[in-house]
Amino acid sequence: MEKTVRLNDGTEIPVIGLGLFRSDGENEAEQAIRYAYEAGYRLFDTASYYHNEEAVGRGLKMLGVPREELFVTTKIWTDEQRSGDIEGALDRSLRKLQLDYVDMYMIHWPVRECFDQVWEEMVRLQGTGKVKTIGVCNCSIAYLKKIMEISEVLPAVNQIECHPAYFERDTVAFCQENHIAVEAYAPLGRCKYLNHPVLVRLAEKYGKSEAQIMLRWEVQKGLIVIPKSTKQHRIEANADIFDFSLEQEDMEAVDGMNEFRRVIDLDPKTMDI
Ligand SMILES: NC(=O)c1ccc[n+]([C@@H]2O[C@H](COP(=O)([O-])OP(=O)(O)OC[C@H]3O[C@@H](n4cnc5c(N)ncnc54)[C@H](OP(=O)(O)O)[C@@H]3O)[C@@H](O)[C@H]2O)c1
Repeated sequence: MEKTVRLNDGTEIPVIGLGLFRSDGENEAEQAIRYAYEAGYRLFDTASYYHNEEAVGRGLKMLGVPREELFVTTKIWTDEQRSGDIEGALDRSLRKLQLDYVDMYMIHWPVRECFDQVWEEMVRLQGTGKVKTIGVCNCSIAYLKKIMEISEVLPAVNQIECHPAYFERDTVAFCQENHIAVEAYAPLGRCKYLNHPVLVRLAEKYGKSEAQIMLRWEVQKGLIVIPKSTKQHRIEANADIFDFSLEQEDMEAVDGMNEFRRVIDLDPKTMDI
Protein backbone atom coordinates (compact mmCIF):
# COMPACT_ATOMS: atom_id res chain seq x y z
CA MET A 1 0.00 0.00 0.00
CA GLU A 2 1.23 3.48 -0.93
CA LYS A 3 1.96 5.74 2.04
CA THR A 4 0.81 8.85 0.20
CA VAL A 5 -2.18 9.70 -1.97
CA ARG A 6 -2.51 12.28 -4.72
CA LEU A 7 -5.28 14.80 -4.15
CA ASN A 8 -7.59 16.26 -6.81
CA ASP A 9 -5.34 19.34 -7.08
CA GLY A 10 -2.21 17.25 -7.66
CA THR A 11 -0.80 17.62 -4.15
CA GLU A 12 0.55 14.52 -2.46
CA ILE A 13 -0.55 13.87 1.11
CA PRO A 14 0.64 11.16 3.52
CA VAL A 15 -2.04 8.62 4.44
CA ILE A 16 -1.10 8.86 8.11
CA GLY A 17 -0.58 11.99 10.13
CA LEU A 18 -0.37 13.13 13.71
CA GLY A 19 -3.50 14.67 15.23
CA LEU A 20 -2.63 17.49 17.60
CA PHE A 21 -5.96 18.33 19.27
CA ARG A 22 -5.43 18.47 23.04
CA SER A 23 -1.66 18.25 22.70
CA ASP A 24 -1.42 21.39 24.74
CA GLY A 25 0.47 20.50 27.91
CA GLU A 26 3.89 21.95 28.49
CA ASN A 27 6.17 20.86 25.66
CA GLU A 28 3.64 18.19 24.65
CA ALA A 29 3.12 19.17 21.02
CA GLU A 30 6.85 19.78 20.51
CA GLN A 31 7.72 16.33 21.85
CA ALA A 32 4.90 14.55 20.02
CA ILE A 33 6.07 16.12 16.75
CA ARG A 34 9.62 14.90 17.36
CA TYR A 35 8.46 11.34 18.18
CA ALA A 36 6.18 11.34 15.17
CA TYR A 37 8.79 12.63 12.77
CA GLU A 38 11.23 9.96 13.95
CA ALA A 39 8.53 7.31 13.45
CA GLY A 40 8.05 8.46 9.84
CA TYR A 41 5.09 10.87 10.11
CA ARG A 42 5.23 13.90 7.83
CA LEU A 43 1.63 15.14 8.18
CA PHE A 44 0.76 17.26 11.22
CA ASP A 45 -2.83 18.36 11.87
CA THR A 46 -3.62 21.39 13.99
CA ALA A 47 -6.18 24.22 14.02
CA SER A 48 -6.49 27.73 15.40
CA TYR A 49 -9.19 26.29 17.68
CA TYR A 50 -6.62 23.96 19.32
CA HIS A 51 -4.71 26.96 20.70
CA ASN A 52 -1.41 25.20 20.14
CA GLU A 53 -0.23 26.61 16.83
CA GLU A 54 2.73 28.36 18.52
CA ALA A 55 3.83 25.08 20.12
CA VAL A 56 3.31 23.21 16.86
CA GLY A 57 5.37 25.86 15.06
CA ARG A 58 8.16 25.47 17.63
CA GLY A 59 8.02 21.68 17.33
CA LEU A 60 8.27 21.81 13.55
CA LYS A 61 11.10 24.32 13.64
CA MET A 62 13.01 22.23 16.17
CA LEU A 63 12.99 19.31 13.71
CA GLY A 64 15.38 21.33 11.58
CA VAL A 65 14.30 19.58 8.39
CA PRO A 66 13.56 21.08 4.96
CA ARG A 67 10.09 22.61 4.87
CA GLU A 68 9.14 20.55 1.79
CA GLU A 69 9.40 17.35 3.83
CA LEU A 70 6.46 18.37 6.00
CA PHE A 71 2.74 18.53 5.36
CA VAL A 72 1.16 20.98 7.79
CA THR A 73 -2.59 21.44 8.12
CA THR A 74 -4.40 24.13 10.03
CA LYS A 75 -8.04 25.22 10.07
CA ILE A 76 -10.15 28.32 10.32
CA TRP A 77 -12.62 28.38 13.21
CA THR A 78 -16.23 29.59 13.03
CA ASP A 79 -15.77 33.04 14.61
CA GLU A 80 -12.92 33.74 12.19
CA GLN A 81 -15.20 32.77 9.31
CA ARG A 82 -17.98 35.03 10.57
CA SER A 83 -15.52 37.93 10.86
CA GLY A 84 -15.16 37.83 7.07
CA ASP A 85 -11.37 38.29 7.29
CA ILE A 86 -10.29 34.84 6.12
CA GLU A 87 -6.85 35.96 4.98
CA GLY A 88 -6.30 37.69 8.34
CA ALA A 89 -7.08 34.41 10.12
CA LEU A 90 -4.68 32.54 7.86
CA ASP A 91 -1.95 35.14 8.43
CA ARG A 92 -2.38 34.81 12.20
CA SER A 93 -2.04 31.02 11.95
CA LEU A 94 1.03 31.33 9.73
CA ARG A 95 2.65 33.74 12.17
CA LYS A 96 2.04 31.40 15.10
CA LEU A 97 3.26 28.40 13.12
CA GLN A 98 6.32 30.39 11.91
CA LEU A 99 5.56 29.28 8.37
CA ASP A 100 5.31 31.04 5.01
CA TYR A 101 2.61 28.65 3.84
CA VAL A 102 0.49 25.76 5.06
CA ASP A 103 0.12 22.63 3.01
CA MET A 104 -3.58 22.50 3.72
CA TYR A 105 -6.01 25.13 5.03
CA MET A 106 -9.44 23.83 6.01
CA ILE A 107 -12.83 25.17 6.98
CA HIS A 108 -13.11 23.65 10.46
CA TRP A 109 -16.91 23.69 10.66
CA PRO A 110 -19.22 25.02 7.98
CA VAL A 111 -21.02 28.22 9.00
CA ARG A 112 -24.28 28.32 7.11
CA GLU A 113 -24.67 32.06 6.71
CA CYS A 114 -21.22 32.72 5.22
CA PHE A 115 -20.25 29.33 3.78
CA ASP A 116 -20.25 30.43 0.11
CA GLN A 117 -18.16 33.53 0.74
CA VAL A 118 -15.68 31.65 2.91
CA TRP A 119 -15.23 28.98 0.25
CA GLU A 120 -14.67 31.59 -2.46
CA GLU A 121 -12.06 33.23 -0.26
CA MET A 122 -10.36 29.87 0.37
CA VAL A 123 -10.10 29.41 -3.41
CA ARG A 124 -8.59 32.88 -3.74
CA LEU A 125 -6.08 32.14 -0.97
CA GLN A 126 -4.90 29.03 -2.77
CA GLY A 127 -3.70 31.36 -5.52
CA THR A 128 -1.62 33.48 -3.14
CA GLY A 129 0.97 30.81 -2.35
CA LYS A 130 0.16 30.92 1.37
CA VAL A 131 -1.87 27.72 1.02
CA LYS A 132 -1.11 24.71 -1.18
CA THR A 133 -4.33 22.77 -0.77
CA ILE A 134 -7.79 23.74 0.45
CA GLY A 135 -10.18 21.47 2.23
CA VAL A 136 -13.20 21.30 4.49
CA CYS A 137 -14.11 19.45 7.64
CA ASN A 138 -17.46 18.22 8.85
CA CYS A 139 -19.15 18.75 5.51
CA SER A 140 -22.29 16.78 4.75
CA ILE A 141 -23.18 15.88 1.17
CA ALA A 142 -25.47 18.93 1.12
CA TYR A 143 -22.55 21.27 1.86
CA LEU A 144 -20.38 19.58 -0.75
CA LYS A 145 -23.16 19.95 -3.33
CA LYS A 146 -23.39 23.62 -2.39
CA ILE A 147 -19.70 24.03 -3.23
CA MET A 148 -20.29 22.27 -6.55
CA GLU A 149 -23.03 24.80 -7.34
CA ILE A 150 -21.04 27.92 -6.54
CA SER A 151 -17.46 27.03 -7.40
CA GLU A 152 -15.34 25.31 -10.02
CA VAL A 153 -12.95 24.25 -7.27
CA LEU A 154 -13.83 21.29 -5.10
CA PRO A 155 -12.22 20.72 -1.71
CA ALA A 156 -9.30 18.32 -1.98
CA VAL A 157 -10.17 16.77 1.38
CA ASN A 158 -13.20 16.43 3.65
CA GLN A 159 -12.07 15.70 7.21
CA ILE A 160 -14.88 13.95 9.08
CA GLU A 161 -15.34 11.75 12.12
CA CYS A 162 -14.67 8.22 10.95
CA HIS A 163 -13.99 5.01 12.84
CA PRO A 164 -15.60 1.57 13.02
CA ALA A 165 -18.37 2.70 15.40
CA TYR A 166 -19.18 5.78 13.32
CA PHE A 167 -18.84 5.45 9.59
CA GLU A 168 -20.93 7.62 7.27
CA ARG A 169 -21.02 5.33 4.26
CA ASP A 170 -22.96 7.75 2.04
CA THR A 171 -20.70 10.72 2.72
CA VAL A 172 -17.54 8.67 2.21
CA ALA A 173 -18.90 7.20 -1.04
CA PHE A 174 -19.97 10.64 -2.31
CA CYS A 175 -16.55 12.09 -1.56
CA GLN A 176 -14.68 9.22 -3.16
CA GLU A 177 -16.89 9.31 -6.29
CA ASN A 178 -16.11 13.02 -6.62
CA HIS A 179 -12.36 12.70 -5.97
CA ILE A 180 -12.53 14.38 -2.58
CA ALA A 181 -10.22 12.50 -0.23
CA VAL A 182 -11.70 11.57 3.11
CA GLU A 183 -9.53 12.21 6.14
CA ALA A 184 -10.70 10.33 9.23
CA TYR A 185 -10.63 12.30 12.44
CA ALA A 186 -10.99 10.54 15.78
CA PRO A 187 -9.83 7.46 13.84
CA LEU A 188 -9.38 5.59 17.11
CA GLY A 189 -12.87 6.54 18.23
CA ARG A 190 -11.06 8.28 21.07
CA CYS A 191 -10.35 4.76 22.33
CA LYS A 192 -13.91 4.04 23.41
CA TYR A 193 -14.10 0.80 21.45
CA LEU A 194 -10.68 -0.75 21.97
CA ASN A 195 -12.15 -3.65 23.94
CA HIS A 196 -14.80 -4.45 21.31
CA PRO A 197 -14.79 -8.25 20.78
CA VAL A 198 -14.28 -7.94 17.00
CA LEU A 199 -11.17 -5.81 17.47
CA VAL A 200 -9.88 -8.03 20.26
CA ARG A 201 -10.30 -11.12 18.05
CA LEU A 202 -8.62 -9.51 15.04
CA ALA A 203 -5.79 -8.10 17.16
CA GLU A 204 -5.08 -11.63 18.31
CA LYS A 205 -5.36 -13.04 14.77
CA TYR A 206 -2.98 -10.53 13.16
CA GLY A 207 -0.63 -10.07 16.13
CA LYS A 208 -1.44 -6.33 16.17
CA SER A 209 -3.12 -4.04 18.68
CA GLU A 210 -6.81 -3.13 18.55
CA ALA A 211 -5.81 0.45 17.66
CA GLN A 212 -3.72 -0.82 14.74
CA ILE A 213 -6.65 -2.91 13.49
CA MET A 214 -8.87 0.18 13.48
CA LEU A 215 -6.33 2.32 11.63
CA ARG A 216 -5.59 -0.44 9.11
CA TRP A 217 -9.32 -0.88 8.41
CA GLU A 218 -9.53 2.86 7.71
CA VAL A 219 -6.56 3.05 5.36
CA GLN A 220 -7.80 -0.04 3.52
CA LYS A 221 -11.01 1.90 2.93
CA GLY A 222 -8.93 4.58 1.25
CA LEU A 223 -9.02 7.04 4.14
CA ILE A 224 -6.26 9.29 5.42
CA VAL A 225 -5.92 8.88 9.20
CA ILE A 226 -4.70 11.35 11.81
CA PRO A 227 -4.58 9.55 15.18
CA LYS A 228 -3.61 11.73 18.12
CA SER A 229 -1.20 10.68 20.80
CA THR A 230 1.44 12.35 22.88
CA LYS A 231 3.04 9.05 23.95
CA GLN A 232 6.08 7.90 22.02
CA HIS A 233 5.20 4.18 22.04
CA ARG A 234 1.66 4.86 20.80
CA ILE A 235 2.77 7.32 18.14
CA GLU A 236 5.18 4.67 16.84
CA ALA A 237 2.66 1.83 17.03
CA ASN A 238 -0.09 3.84 15.32
CA ALA A 239 2.13 4.27 12.26
CA ASP A 240 3.11 0.61 12.16
CA ILE A 241 0.17 -0.53 10.06
CA PHE A 242 1.74 -1.12 6.68
CA ASP A 243 3.14 -4.62 7.17
CA PHE A 244 -0.16 -6.48 7.22
CA SER A 245 -3.49 -6.43 5.49
CA LEU A 246 -6.99 -7.27 6.73
CA GLU A 247 -8.73 -10.00 4.77
CA GLN A 248 -12.08 -9.14 3.18
CA GLU A 249 -14.11 -11.08 5.76
CA ASP A 250 -12.29 -9.23 8.54
CA MET A 251 -12.92 -5.87 6.86
CA GLU A 252 -16.61 -6.85 6.86
CA ALA A 253 -16.48 -7.89 10.51
CA VAL A 254 -15.20 -4.40 11.39
CA ASP A 255 -17.87 -2.87 9.11
CA GLY A 256 -20.38 -4.63 11.36
CA MET A 257 -19.25 -2.55 14.34
CA ASN A 258 -20.94 0.57 12.92
CA GLU A 259 -23.35 1.96 15.52
CA PHE A 260 -23.58 5.39 13.87
CA ARG A 261 -22.50 6.75 17.23
CA ARG A 262 -20.24 9.78 17.31
CA VAL A 263 -17.57 10.18 19.94
CA ILE A 264 -17.47 13.93 19.58
CA ASP A 265 -20.27 15.97 21.12
CA LEU A 266 -21.09 18.10 18.11
CA ASP A 267 -23.01 16.88 15.10
CA PRO A 268 -22.40 18.94 11.96
CA LYS A 269 -25.79 17.88 10.59
CA THR A 270 -27.67 19.62 13.37
CA MET A 271 -25.19 22.05 14.89
CA ASP A 272 -24.64 25.48 13.48
CA ILE A 273 -21.85 26.67 15.71
N1 LIG B 1 -11.92 18.62 12.03
C1 LIG B 1 -12.47 18.36 13.19
O1 LIG B 1 -13.57 18.85 13.53
C2 LIG B 1 -11.75 17.46 14.15
C3 LIG B 1 -12.42 16.98 15.29
C4 LIG B 1 -11.72 16.14 16.14
C5 LIG B 1 -10.42 15.78 15.87
N2 LIG B 1 -9.77 16.28 14.77
C6 LIG B 1 -8.36 15.91 14.45
O2 LIG B 1 -8.25 14.49 14.48
C7 LIG B 1 -7.22 14.13 15.40
C8 LIG B 1 -7.51 12.77 16.02
O3 LIG B 1 -8.76 12.75 16.68
P1 LIG B 1 -8.92 12.75 18.28
O4 LIG B 1 -7.71 13.31 18.90
O5 LIG B 1 -10.20 13.42 18.56
O6 LIG B 1 -9.13 11.20 18.64
P2 LIG B 1 -8.35 9.82 18.37
O7 LIG B 1 -7.13 10.05 17.59
O8 LIG B 1 -9.36 8.85 17.89
O9 LIG B 1 -7.99 9.36 19.85
C9 LIG B 1 -7.05 10.04 20.62
C10 LIG B 1 -7.00 9.38 22.01
O10 LIG B 1 -6.53 8.04 21.90
C11 LIG B 1 -5.36 7.85 22.74
N3 LIG B 1 -4.50 6.94 21.97
C12 LIG B 1 -3.78 7.23 20.85
N4 LIG B 1 -3.18 6.11 20.36
C13 LIG B 1 -3.51 5.10 21.19
C14 LIG B 1 -3.21 3.71 21.21
N5 LIG B 1 -2.44 3.16 20.27
N6 LIG B 1 -3.73 2.95 22.20
C15 LIG B 1 -4.51 3.50 23.15
N7 LIG B 1 -4.85 4.81 23.20
C16 LIG B 1 -4.35 5.61 22.21
C17 LIG B 1 -4.81 9.23 22.96
O11 LIG B 1 -4.20 9.35 24.23
P3 LIG B 1 -2.63 9.70 24.43
O12 LIG B 1 -2.37 11.04 23.80
O13 LIG B 1 -2.51 9.71 25.92
O14 LIG B 1 -1.88 8.58 23.79
C18 LIG B 1 -6.08 10.10 22.97
O15 LIG B 1 -6.70 10.07 24.23
C19 LIG B 1 -7.21 15.30 16.39
O16 LIG B 1 -6.06 15.31 17.20
C20 LIG B 1 -7.34 16.45 15.45
O17 LIG B 1 -6.10 16.74 14.84
C21 LIG B 1 -10.44 17.09 13.89
